[in-house]
Amino acid sequence: MAVITIDGKKLEVPDHKNVLECALDAGIYIPHLCHHKDLSPLGSCRMCIVEVEGQEGVTTSCTLKAEDGLKITTKSPEIDRLRMLALELLLAGHPEDCSTCPKYGNCELQTLIQYIGPKTGRLKMRTKGFKPNDQNPIILHDMNRCVLCGRCVRACNELRGVKVLQYQKKDMETYVGTLHNKLLKDVDCRFCQACVEVCPTGTIRDKLINTEAKKEEAVVPCRHACPAHTDVPRY
Ligand code: FES
Repeated sequence: MAVITIDGKKLEVPDHKNVLECALDAGIYIPHLCHHKDLSPLGSCRMCIVEVEGQEGVTTSCTLKAEDGLKITTKSPEIDRLRMLALELLLAGHPEDCSTCPKYGNCELQTLIQYIGPKTGRLKMRTKGFKPNDQNPIILHDMNRCVLCGRCVRACNELRGVKVLQYQKKDMETYVGTLHNKLLKDVDCRFCQACVEVCPTGTIRDKLINTEAKKEEAVVPCRHACPAHTDVPRY
């Protein structure tokens, strides 16, 4: 075990557990997006940045391992500024039509927007122009809504041991696709839905779920122990 301090609170935590999960377990909310507890940390979205005593700048808490004596600060004007900028960059490539998205009310990006409150209109919007792909059975892909958190790619690889989903390039745009853009059934997909389960936005969806009915049920948008919704499960 290691003793670490987060925002002045001393915690005894398993050695080398990542700091983000240590904080969440202790009821200290740190925003996060690309992290998922069942997947290896990637550290790409920069939502979970914290300051470490004795170190310059900020670091991502999902990739930071707990070590005895570590002292972490999760809130400061500089953290807020950098996190806001990272979110604005993500949103510059994401459509603004949340209320028409089937994941509305149950979207982790939406939760972050509510919590962080990014300024709108500072950055030029980028339209990706992908055509939603509903040619596969069960699963629908709408890469316009993708924030490249990489959860689906990791889930496919790490949880199912297949590499059906992978990063591809179209012009200058990176997206998640399949090799040669083949249909899922032609690239050995098991249709296990792991990618659907871990997708934080409305990018990879179950075609068979009645999303209108789900919208009605989705009274709580946040599933991640943000201070406004601490009575709901974290993952
Ligand atoms: Fe840590 Fe994305 S959650 S960088």
